[in-house]
Amino acid sequence: MFASLPDAAGPQVAVTVDGKTVAVPPGASVAAALLLAGAVPSRTTAVSAAPRAPYCMMGVCFECLVEIDGVAERQACMVTAAEGMRVRRTPRSSSIERS
Ligand code: FES
Repeated sequence: MFASLPDAAGPQVAVTVDGKTVAVPPGASVAAALLLAGAVPSRTTAVSAAPRAPYCMMGVCFECLVEIDGVAERQACMVTAAEGMRVRRTPRSSSIERS
């Protein structure tokens, strides 16, 4: 679905997304790592369980929430991927009942 540009060759940063190692260019966001790993949807909504994935890539939509190094509900697009970082998708962190 997504691939790095050809000129992105060079040193890479290795992160794991749901246990799968993915190499991303230095300075890339965790959201970019999710997309490169094909880890979409990255979460589901609490009310209807609708699938969600990174959308705006600039901290506005909150569709990219994931667990990063054990900390839940982080905005993946606002965090720079770092060597050894562990990312976990959060399918449905909470649920809300409809009345
Ligand atoms: S992709 Fe929109 S807030 Fe992260």
